[in-house]
Amino acid sequence: MGSLPLLAACCSLLLTVAAPARDSTTSVCASQIGDFPHRNSSGLHLTLHHPQSPCSPAPLPSDLPFSTVLTHDDARVAHLASRLAASDPPSRRPTSLRKQKKAAGGASGGHHLDDDSLASVPLSPGTSVGVGNYVTQLGLGTPSTSYAMVVDTGSSLTWLQCSPCVVSCHRQVGPLFDPRASSTYTSVRCSASQCDELQAATLNPSACSASNVCIYQASYGDSSFSVGYLSTDTVSFGSTSYPSFYYGCGQDNEGLFGRSAGLIGLARNKLSLLYQLAPSLGYSFSYCLPTAASTGYLSIGPYNTGHYYSYTPMASSSLDASLYFITLSGMSVGGSPLAVSPSEYSSLPTIIDSGTVITRLPTAVHTALSKAVAQAMAGAQRAPAFSILDTCFEGQASQLRVPTVVMAFAGGASMKLTTRNVLIDVDDSTTCLAFAPTDSTAIIGNTQQQTFSVIYDVAQSRIGFSAGGCS
Ligand SMILES: *[C@@H]1O[C@H](CO)[C@@H](O)[C@H](O)[C@H]1NC(C)=O
Repeated sequence: MGSLPLLAACCSLLLTVAAPARDSTTSVCASQIGDFPHRNSSGLHLTLHHPQSPCSPAPLPSDLPFSTVLTHDDARVAHLASRLAASDPPSRRPTSLRKQKKAAGGASGGHHLDDDSLASVPLSPGTSVGVGNYVTQLGLGTPSTSYAMVVDTGSSLTWLQCSPCVVSCHRQVGPLFDPRASSTYTSVRCSASQCDELQAATLNPSACSASNVCIYQASYGDSSFSVGYLSTDTVSFGSTSYPSFYYGCGQDNEGLFGRSAGLIGLARNKLSLLYQLAPSLGYSFSYCLPTAASTGYLSIGPYNTGHYYSYTPMASSSLDASLYFITLSGMSVGGSPLAVSPSEYSSLPTIIDSGTVITRLPTAVHTALSKAVAQAMAGAQRAPAFSILDTCFEGQASQLRVPTVVMAFAGGASMKLTTRNVLIDVDDSTTCLAFAPTDSTAIIGNTQQQTFSVIYDVAQSRIGFSAGGCS
């Protein structure tokens, strides 16, 4: 609520006055954000931005083709699926993380980091970070500096690009984090238990530098990874700070989109932000993933139980204990259950993920959903398939009559999807059903979660949904 008038105000201003676009965007965004981040008795509250929101501190290029988004989405899904293929561990590939020899005179001056130990660490294949990931800000160091970070429920280790970027850093918004400028920075020894924890947190082995500093390797795709020093420093959100936070000080970072500085991991592992803050905030977080024209939040800590939420138990899985598994139990279109055997809904392991754009359903369920939606939208002109999206229509989602789609989960939780959770505009004249089939891992993606409040209550092992959570 409230975002539409703000947007309208923004855009009419842009159209009628040749005012500097940045100024009007900034004021719209400032009024949306208010006094975030802040901490109160119900936890820590951060602002969350859609990856393509003009209010994001590190927006994706506005001309990023949607087909590119889908290509990266597929890579993320393949990576998540490979983590669950227990009998078939991800293949290793050697990387070429060798520092480019500096031209004549090479000494790169004074820092204590030893470069050679970053060379030739093995990485497993994964996906690109950032295309589908929402963005918030985190403060680091003493004195504290703020960084635009993508938020990821599918990984654990928090890392950011770190000066001197021994091998490589991509362009980011604002200055790089410089450990030498922080009085509270320390690097972590190889003998620390947190160094051992990296295998579970990143699914890659740790390494050890010649000067006994623990090296992490976080990988998300063939072209997307961060490698650097496991470190601790004070992390801060507004005026609230937490000392000795473990994170990766990235010296070789490739493939991050949108000029973010790094990534915040919220998966279930001792090194994730959630688990590190849990001693003071508790083991739960909630979010509302906004559309590009609204503002959402990420809250860590206790949540408002006065609000109506429907809950589904977190399912346990031995396949990857750090991901959030739930059980899909049914779907309906326009009030009618899909024409598919109920056992099909839970025929694959199902995770809920903040960074996957398009929900992946077991093929039989997807086929039935596609049929039912197409039937209900028989008046709309069909359009050819677009990339992984096989059920497309001419026009834009907002102009079409779309049936109500409900996703139901074990234990009685459900999400009644709105038009924008069901269809996604892929270009100016085409919109598609925002679901795709899979035969490996089902994923509840972020197009379907948008504008719902979603609670991840790890302490009570349940996930809660409530409609209408973003402002
Ligand atoms: C804490 O702040 C959040 C976000 O601004 C707000 O929604 C919530 O009601 C506040 N809780 C209390 C107990 O004041």
